[in-house]
Amino acid sequence: MLFPNDDDRRRWDYFLSSALAAAQARVAEGPVTPMLDPSAIREKLIPFDFAAPRPLEGLIAWVIAQMEDGVVHFSHPCYLGLFNPAPAFPAQCADRIVGVFNPQLAAAATSPAAVEIERHTILAVARRAGLTGDLGGHFTTGGTEANYTALLCSLTQACAGFAAEGARAFAGPPVFYVSRESHLAWLKIAHQAGIGRTAARMIATDGNGRMRPDSLTAAIERDRVQGCTPVMIVATAGTTAAGAIDPLIACAEIARDAGLWYHVDAAWGGALIASDRLRHRLAGIERANSITIDAHKWFAATMGCGMFIATRAALLPEVFGVSASFMPPSSAHNFDPYTSTVQWSRRFLGLRLFLALASAGWAGYAAHVERAVALASVLQDGLASRGWRIANEPALAVVCAEPPAGTGSAKEVVSRVLASGRAWVSAATFEGRDVVRACITNGRTTRRDIMETLDALHSACRSV
Ligand SMILES: Cc1ncc(COP(=O)(O)O)c(C=O)c1O
Repeated sequence: MLFPNDDDRRRWDYFLSSALAAAQARVAEGPVTPMLDPSAIREKLIPFDFAAPRPLEGLIAWVIAQMEDGVVHFSHPCYLGLFNPAPAFPAQCADRIVGVFNPQLAAAATSPAAVEIERHTILAVARRAGLTGDLGGHFTTGGTEANYTALLCSLTQACAGFAAEGARAFAGPPVFYVSRESHLAWLKIAHQAGIGRTAARMIATDGNGRMRPDSLTAAIERDRVQGCTPVMIVATAGTTAAGAIDPLIACAEIARDAGLWYHVDAAWGGALIASDRLRHRLAGIERANSITIDAHKWFAATMGCGMFIATRAALLPEVFGVSASFMPPSSAHNFDPYTSTVQWSRRFLGLRLFLALASAGWAGYAAHVERAVALASVLQDGLASRGWRIANEPALAVVCAEPPAGTGSAKEVVSRVLASGRAWVSAATFEGRDVVRACITNGRTTRRDIMETLDALHSACRSV
């Protein structure tokens, strides 16, 4: 059963592909939010005691049914959700290929084709973002791992003793700067790196979700006076709640003047580099020492595909270098991911973006992001004309809005929309205000789906 013969494998492959296609068609026509009842799911799992083998076809059908009934449908065209995309088809093909060959990407010597495909893709994205220098980087499990890598690079660069001694090698506690609207994984990252959560200095924003340069400068000066050691400034290009873009050029200048590592967290917004028409919104990203872009966000790769890109690639082996007698030897031309990334054993993550980018080209992705931004404007106008107050500037296809007065709180409206199953939007806090948040994440969402969502939101308001 674990290793079927060729005939059985082909038969099950065919069964799996047909069952998935049928499920996908049903999902697009059904509710975005099925009944999500963990206790019912646990009940259904009780018979799985793994004592006796079961036929694979039945199991495949069972699992697909659980996916249909037991997860929010991120691939539904009315899922206007967090930064989780409907996955591009070439990325799904990549998962399939990788599952068959299962290459180990720890070392270049054993998987040179896979390592070079990843490297080629990373360098293409780095150049497209306008970065220059000793370019390098790698695919990560997501934005959090990429941002963690940036913090480790900044700490290693700031203090020669950090690699051996950790935070105690610093003359004063190391600190870094992010905006109050940044992604809060920075707190976990600071914790993981051993410098403590308070090392993430949360800088004030300007009322539109963007970091205030004057507050940033003041915080750096204050920290220095108090004996702390600033190591890094992080600008966010596409905040999680509202898609706001920090002033990337001003932050770059402050980082340069203060001698700090400059990281741009463009986990979501980075995909804008594809569009010649819109990429100016990211002006300043090319001045970063490192950037995070998640392929599993606006590039629509399947989950677990981020990127860390740096302009000082030589620093990575300083951070992650290690030698192990059991690993295949490196050659001078080799780039061994296990000596330059957080992970050791590695999946061939980057094939998802390679296949998608190669088949769509930058022009295909430009159309993808431009379309999403245009649809966000339709949503914004539709909400405004129905009496909603638009709270943000939807530069990155994220719309935040407050429901018309007297129709219920943002949270109440969201829970009514989810209960209707017609669309998926979320409640968020943006600049201290409770808002309904909607983001165009699906390349198949149409104007008709936006109208459907507007109608669902409108009905949710009226039902007070
Ligand atoms: C701006 C930003 N940075 C980082 C992250 C974390 O990325 P991941 O969930 O891929 O770890 C997110 C997630 O939404 C994000 O929006």
